[in-house]
Amino acid sequence: MATPSVEPRHPGINEHVAQFVGRRTRRMLIDGKWVEAASGNLFFTYEAATEKPLAEVPAGDKEDVERAVKAARRAFEGGPWRKMTPSERGRALWKLADLIEAHAEEFAQLETLDNGKPISVARIADIPLVVDHFRYYAGWATKVEGETIPVSAPGMLNYTLREPVGVIGQIIPWNFPLLMAAWKLGPALACGNTVVLKPAEQTPLSALRLGELLADAGIPPGVVNIVTGFGETAGAAIASHPDVDKVAFTGSTEVGHAIMREAAGNLKRVSLELGGKSPNIIFADSDLEEAAIGAASAIYFNHGQCCCAGSRLFIEKPAYDKVMPKLIEYSQGIKLGPGMDPSTQMGPLVSSEQFERVNSYLAAGSKEGAKVATGGGRPKQMKKGYFVAPTVFTDVKPNMKVVREEIFGPVVCAIPFKSLEDVAAAGNDTTYGLAAAVWTRDIQKAHRMAEMLKAGTVWINCYNMFDAASPFGGYKQSGFGREMGKAALELYTQVKSVWVNLGGQ
Ligand code: NAI
Ligand code: MG
Repeated sequence: MATPSVEPRHPGINEHVAQFVGRRTRRMLIDGKWVEAASGNLFFTYEAATEKPLAEVPAGDKEDVERAVKAARRAFEGGPWRKMTPSERGRALWKLADLIEAHAEEFAQLETLDNGKPISVARIADIPLVVDHFRYYAGWATKVEGETIPVSAPGMLNYTLREPVGVIGQIIPWNFPLLMAAWKLGPALACGNTVVLKPAEQTPLSALRLGELLADAGIPPGVVNIVTGFGETAGAAIASHPDVDKVAFTGSTEVGHAIMREAAGNLKRVSLELGGKSPNIIFADSDLEEAAIGAASAIYFNHGQCCCAGSRLFIEKPAYDKVMPKLIEYSQGIKLGPGMDPSTQMGPLVSSEQFERVNSYLAAGSKEGAKVATGGGRPKQMKKGYFVAPTVFTDVKPNMKVVREEIFGPVVCAIPFKSLEDVAAAGNDTTYGLAAAVWTRDIQKAHRMAEMLKAGTVWINCYNMFDAASPFGGYKQSGFGREMGKAALELYTQVKSVWVNLGGQ
């Protein structure tokens, strides 16, 4: 099948996007060159709103990962990257941010076509956050400092150097394709590492476009290699490669387990940002209007395809009958449609696989006795596309699949609770621990809950707040290692202790 062009389907399309998507020979980036997969194989990425093929992309595999790791190793051990000063590295990252900003509309459209998210969201959230993220880490390049340590050995000076880890494998999910790449690339590059990055097979386009800007930003060949391909092939080859020093992964908990097993071969460092089943807790003393809207956006943002989605909504009993009608009304008012329509508030899910997965949870919920208060499947008026109506389950039990497992769709379980102690226990009754939120006007209750909840992020009277400066990551099986903020420097540096005999003792 020939690579289709998006032009006839989207009259308002950015001309560069139409050209980029319509390209017949699409390649991936290894050692600063645009190359085909060694096998010559390609695969399709699909437009989520129409289910039609969008573009063809090289199906990278073991041999391509091998070439990419070699290039990254060469770039790490010698060459211009090693000689660049921290200030020069910082300026390159800042320039990359400028270039992305200059092409922001292009990136937003690519993200929407490939992932399905509303263009309005890609414009105001994904792309500006990417730009900000690279700028934030541009600043860190000159601030990766060691320490001098007052050791008690007489006549000795001891200091530490904070050095890059080496060749980093980065495996990216499809829910925020460019942003997740930025979260990993920013700190890795600021600290002086080199990278082999694999975008998700569902959404490879924005990473490939980013690859085209690297040289103009002044990032030398081989420093960032982008291998497109599937998880079981290209992804697994990165995780098991003996010359990759660290692997950073965002995705399913199941694959997180597999990556740790693969990484054991050469004991590569691992950081994992995995799933969640985050509790969102509304106390009766909160601003219920604000909390109900907050609860809706906590689960529906990015169609629920967020690792930190507020998918278990706990409502204090006296407020339950006040919050629920507001939540249902809000859920029913969300405008579903193709992402490229600027008035769309919720687009389709990313893929047929994800559509099937979410629908199987909807079926499991009903089978186990949960009630559908609103939503429950593809809206009747939508004939095509992986659309799922915003869905609220009630009458759920703690052991139901819909309460225990990550659904990764616009589906929330509403659960009434009696007391602070009960809800803290119920909130923590999960193998996950990525995020949690508390809505209350009582400052003591808010901070007590923040302490009691076992989660890497706790939001109080808000949800889905992110900033490049604030760390993000999981407790329990939501993973380990913190991305963003100063904390991410830990992932991409190692500490060397240097002892100096000053003599004279
Ligand atoms: P996944 O975990 O399979 O995919 C994420 C990334 O890992 C992709 O780049 C994929 O190619 C790669 N990958 C897959 N298998 C691999 C392997 N064996 N070795 C190395 N890399 C591999 O996620 P999938 O199948 O797309 O979605 C399944 C579920 O995972 C979702 O329903 C959701 O619950 C969860 N998920 C969580 C995300 C998060 O942000 N924490 C993001 C995406 C998915
Ligand atoms: Mg998978």
